[in-house]
Amino acid sequence: MVAAGRCASPRLWPVKILVVGTGAREHAIVHALAAESPADGAHELHAAPGNPGIAREATLHAVDATDGAAVTELARTLEADLVVVGPEAPLVAGVADAVAAAGIPVFGPTAEAARLEGSKSFAKEVMAAAGVPTAMAHVCTTVEEVADALDAFGAPYVVKDDGLAAGKGVVVTSDRDAALAHAREALAARGDEGRVVVEEYLDGPEVSVFVICDGVTVVPLQPAQDFKRVADDDEGPNTGGMGAYSPLDWAPDGLVDEVIERIAQPTVDEMARRGTPFAGVLYVGLALTSRGTRVVEFNARFGDPETQVVLARLLTPLSTVLRASAAGTLADLPALRWSSSHAVNVVVASHGYPGTNRTGDPITGIDDAEALDGVHVLHAGTAVNAEGDLVSAGGRVLSVVAVGADLDEARARAYDGVAAIALPGSHHRTDIAAKAAAHEITVPTA
Ligand code: AMP
Ligand code: GLY
Repeated sequence: MVAAGRCASPRLWPVKILVVGTGAREHAIVHALAAESPADGAHELHAAPGNPGIAREATLHAVDATDGAAVTELARTLEADLVVVGPEAPLVAGVADAVAAAGIPVFGPTAEAARLEGSKSFAKEVMAAAGVPTAMAHVCTTVEEVADALDAFGAPYVVKDDGLAAGKGVVVTSDRDAALAHAREALAARGDEGRVVVEEYLDGPEVSVFVICDGVTVVPLQPAQDFKRVADDDEGPNTGGMGAYSPLDWAPDGLVDEVIERIAQPTVDEMARRGTPFAGVLYVGLALTSRGTRVVEFNARFGDPETQVVLARLLTPLSTVLRASAAGTLADLPALRWSSSHAVNVVVASHGYPGTNRTGDPITGIDDAEALDGVHVLHAGTAVNAEGDLVSAGGRVLSVVAVGADLDEARARAYDGVAAIALPGSHHRTDIAAKAAAHEITVPTA
C-alpha cells in the first residue's frame, strides 16, 4: 500500500547522470538509461572513463574510475544529478564516499559497506551475525590451517582468496594438491596480510539476485544465472563470467521472497545496526542446495554479465530505481515492471582469456549483429587504435545480448549475433542457457 502523501509514480524528467566504470555492465546501465524517454527530452549521460561502445550513448571523460577526488570534481563540473558507480574497485576505494561528501547523489555503497564484497571473511562475519544461510567456512592464515580445513570438509575443495580478485580468486577442485597450491599462492601474494577462506562445497544450481538497497529498504530485481567457467559444460577455470540469462523459469516459487526475508533484509539491517548502512545493489550469489538456499557470495555492485540480461527486461525506468536508492526513498518506489521476454547474453572473450589475453585484434561485424531482431551488443574490453579501428583491449571483449519470446528464441538470436562478429582468436561458450531451455536444471533434494 502506498502511504498517503507519497508519490505513487516517481516523475521521470531528464537528468544528468555520470556512470563510472569501463565494462559491459556499465554499458548496459548507460544503454538502459539512454533508452528511457523522459517527457522533456533525453537524459544527459556521461561516463568515466567508459569505452568505445559507451561513447555511442554517452560523453566520455578520461578520468580514473578509482580516483574519488577526480570523479567528484568531474561530477561537480558536470553538475551531475546522479553518479552511478559500477565496479567494485572504485567502491572499495571510497569513490561513492567522496561523491556523497560533496553533496552529490550517488548510487553505490560506501567503502565500509562495500567490504561485504571486498573481504570474504567480513561478509561471513556479517552473515553469521544476521543469521544468513551460507557455506560453513574456516578463515586460514597459514598453509597448515588450510590443510586441516580441507581435510575437515573433504572433497570437492573450495579455496577463496580473501580479497578482491576479479572473479578469479576462487578454486573449486577435487585435487587436494591444487587446492593447497592455490592457498599457498594467495597467502604469499599478500604477505603478512594473507588470508584464505576454505569452505564446504555447495551442491546445486547457482542463481544471482540483485537487490537494490537504500540503507533500510530492499527491492529485488529478477533472478539471473551466470556461467562462470570458461568452457562448455562448466569445464576449465573460473572467469569473470561468460554469459547469462533471465528469467529463470525453473527456479522455485518464492525464491525471491526467501532471498529478501532470510538474506537481504537481515543483512541490510545488520549493516545499519553496525552504523555502516548498505545502499546500492547487494548482489546475492546463491546456491540452491539439497540442504536449502545458501549464499555463495555477496558483491556490492551489479553483476557482470547478469546485469546485461536483467536490465534488458526491466520496464521501469532504471533512473528512478537508482535515484530512489541514492535518495533513500526506495520505500516509495512503485512495484517494478518487467517484460515477459527472455534475455540471453553470450560473452565474446579474447584469445587466451582468462589466462594472458591477447589485445589489439580487430573487431568487425557489430553492426551486422545489431541489425538482427532483438540483438544489441555491449562493449567491455574494446579500444579504438591509432588507425581508428575497433580492437580488443581486454579479456571479456563484448556482451552479445538478445531478447526473445522464449529462451530458445533469445538463444538463437544471441548466437546469430555472435556469429556475425569477427574477432581473431576469440572464444565463447556455446551452451549459455542451453540446459534451462531444455528444462534440464533441477534443484537437488535432501
Ligand atoms: P565467489 O567469488 O565466492 O563467487 O566464487 C566464484 C565461484 O566459485 C562461484 O560462483 C561458484 O561457482 C564457485 N563457488 C564458490 N564457493 C563455492 C562453494 N562453497 N561451493 C561450490 N562452489 C563454490
Ligand atoms: N557475475 C559475477 C560477478 O559479477 O561477480
